[in-house]
Amino acid sequence: MNETVAPAKAIAGAITLPGDKSISHRYGMLGGIAEGTTTIHNYSTGADCQSTLACMAALGARIERVDGKIILHGGRLREPAEQLDAGNSGSTIRMLSGILAAQGFTTRIGGDESLSRRPMDRVIRPLTEMGAHIEGRQLSGRSGSFPPLTIHGRPLHGIDYALPMASAHVKSCVLLAGLFAAGDTIVREPVRTRDHTEIALQEFGAEMEVHQRVIKLAAGAHLTGRELVVPGDLSSAAFFLVAALLLPEANLVIHNVGLNPTRSSLLDFLTGAGAAIKVIDVKQSGGELIGSLRIRASKIKGGVIEGALTAALIDEIPVLAILGAASSGGLVVRDASELRVKETDRIAAIESNLRRMGVEIETAPDGFRIPGGQSFHATAIDSLGDHRIAMAFAVAALAADGPCTILGAESAGVSFPEFFSTLREIAH
Ligand code: S3P
Repeated sequence: MNETVAPAKAIAGAITLPGDKSISHRYGMLGGIAEGTTTIHNYSTGADCQSTLACMAALGARIERVDGKIILHGGRLREPAEQLDAGNSGSTIRMLSGILAAQGFTTRIGGDESLSRRPMDRVIRPLTEMGAHIEGRQLSGRSGSFPPLTIHGRPLHGIDYALPMASAHVKSCVLLAGLFAAGDTIVREPVRTRDHTEIALQEFGAEMEVHQRVIKLAAGAHLTGRELVVPGDLSSAAFFLVAALLLPEANLVIHNVGLNPTRSSLLDFLTGAGAAIKVIDVKQSGGELIGSLRIRASKIKGGVIEGALTAALIDEIPVLAILGAASSGGLVVRDASELRVKETDRIAAIESNLRRMGVEIETAPDGFRIPGGQSFHATAIDSLGDHRIAMAFAVAALAADGPCTILGAESAGVSFPEFFSTLREIAH
């Protein structure tokens, strides 16, 4: 499906966003293994999070949808009748692998073409160290293992694991396996990554100790169901924040978005670059910070994203690339080789689509440099089936010199099915 996005002058209105994708996955998985009933409000409408629920249902969790709420009756999992389908979702396959590795049965789990090319050694290695037996698929010309995975559940033992890369997926996978392991599980991170798993595990009743980049989960956790509200997705908000900063007029309010400090570097980065963003009505729910954002048109200087900041902004880099091109000083991104193994090679996808729009960019194996003060020419954009590329370039289209067509626009539905309708509501 294609979408045409016309140039706009202003972004204005007040919106509420669907639930955070990262938090929804965790609540869906933990609700599926927790004893009793878990009620989740504002669960992500994205296809990825629906894949997680479908996997949990195939593993025996009973799931009801009542008035927009997800009600999970969890507990002991059972062997699924068929191969589990994680769809496009790296979060589903990587995090769920930790749970599956400890079950008393064998599971096969795979996904779509994009997922089938994403590296899984990063979870196979620590799970194997914990006692699991996992087989992946080999790909010609690439080392390592890829989906589908065959996971032979085994009794696991806790490990003390130093993550070789900044990855909340891998951290979460090891912690979820640790729930079922004999002995404590310790994960050491090279840089702090999103901590929704640590927060959610404690909400469900697990005993944890977190000291900066060292996370310890005590053995013998007993999880019980509870009622939770998923905050609006700040990574989805990022598209509209950048849209507001690209256009000459903007006055946008985004209600109830997640402001977890391991995610909100986006706001610090934008504010540091000159964005007029006000955070209002901050509260806490389920251990997560929630607040509303008001953003007005601003002059943006540009900046550098590197080191720990790259890990903190990893999902926002495609849309920040668009802002960088329009900023006065441009954008440099370093230490971002992980972008090469996302839903697509996002450095290549950013490069090819910016070039189509007549925007200059220089790439490196782990990042890129985009000079500032550039303008966007109308063209057809290829989403390459990647939701964040589709949405980032739809935002660029608002500032282009004519209407742009986004090819494969339906991929936005992976995280944000309402993206184009919301954009039409607020772009004038
Ligand atoms: C996520 C972690 C990140 C991020 C992804 C969601 C999560 O992936 O890019 O969209 O929910 O834990 P990595 O852990 O692979 O960096």
